[in-house]
Amino acid sequence: MYAKFHSIGAFVPSKILSNEDLEKMVDTSDEWILKRTGIKERHIAGDNEVTSDMAAKASKIAIERAGLELEDIDLVVCATVTPDYFNMPATACIISDKIGIKNVQAFDISAACSGFVYALSIAKAFIESGMKKHVLIIGAEKFSSLVDYTDRSTCILFGDGAGAAVISATDNKDEAIVDIHASADGSYADFLVTPAPGSVNPVSQKVIDEGLNFVQMKGNETFKLAVKTLTKDVKSILAKNGIESKDIPHFIPHQANYRIIKAVGDALKMTEEQVVLTVEKYGNTSAASIPMAINDIYESGRLKKGEMMLLDTFGGGLTWASALLPFAGELL
Ligand code: UT7
Repeated sequence: MYAKFHSIGAFVPSKILSNEDLEKMVDTSDEWILKRTGIKERHIAGDNEVTSDMAAKASKIAIERAGLELEDIDLVVCATVTPDYFNMPATACIISDKIGIKNVQAFDISAACSGFVYALSIAKAFIESGMKKHVLIIGAEKFSSLVDYTDRSTCILFGDGAGAAVISATDNKDEAIVDIHASADGSYADFLVTPAPGSVNPVSQKVIDEGLNFVQMKGNETFKLAVKTLTKDVKSILAKNGIESKDIPHFIPHQANYRIIKAVGDALKMTEEQVVLTVEKYGNTSAASIPMAINDIYESGRLKKGEMMLLDTFGGGLTWASALLPFAGELL
């Protein structure tokens, strides 16, 4: 039994936070943000719009596009670092309830920006072992809930959104996920961290006073390590599977910073046509970034059935992951 990437869906909240808006909030400029990150705007969820709302909308689209009924889904995995609740119930349980999936195993995983590819590896393993047939995987973030909008080093980067995919069992090897590499190195845990709430820093006045509930990032150090790791990881998965970068029609990297994507793309000798870019309009949406990017090329008609995708991501943990897989869904 193999696992195939059966369908994709996404949801983007309507409210836009532009660089010009941020100029009025912190000491920054449209020119600096564009030059250093490639981001022009990001979408921000409404006050009453939470992670599971966006995830449920993306999930419904993915299930419909797979041509399945809700009863067909036998596992729900949600990758998020901005769950509805820290730490229970899992957002996957709430999403299942919101879309009407009953009595099915559902859980969250925490792998920051690498979460969607980690979830893909979980779906693949469950399917190949014969335990599940149709796994709903989701990357969803209300990252704006973690951001300190007085900290110019982070608030310009992140946005909100959700993407979902159905991974299904198949006996056709041609449409199967080829390979997934996923890894982590906790010795770099302090590069990207939200210090509270957690067992290290339970909620207290200190947490509030010092803003420990907001994301903190060693931006420049993370940047350098991201370029190095992403490049190495992609070279390794391509070599292991005997595929050259020129034969990949869709390189879909995590959308954190245009300069990181360009450096990795150049190192792999990828052309502009091969590299998928959404960072300009969505910013960094963490676990949602890759499925939102896949959905973009799907809806614009660029992604065709059978075409090979190369996913590559890097995030807090530190975690990183790459995947090589054909798109096995039907066209719109
Ligand atoms: O998604 C998970 C993985 N995340 C990433 O991969 C993100 C990786 N990091 C980055 O994308 C970049 O490091 C940033 C965009 C966050 C920062 O870019 P940078 O080129 O690494 O800048 P820097 O942190 O070295 O800062 C350069 C200067 C500093 O000023 P001085 O010390 O040179 O006077 C900063 O204070 O830019 C200043 N700066 C800003 N200026 C205007 C930092 N943020 C801003 C800002 N507007 N928003």
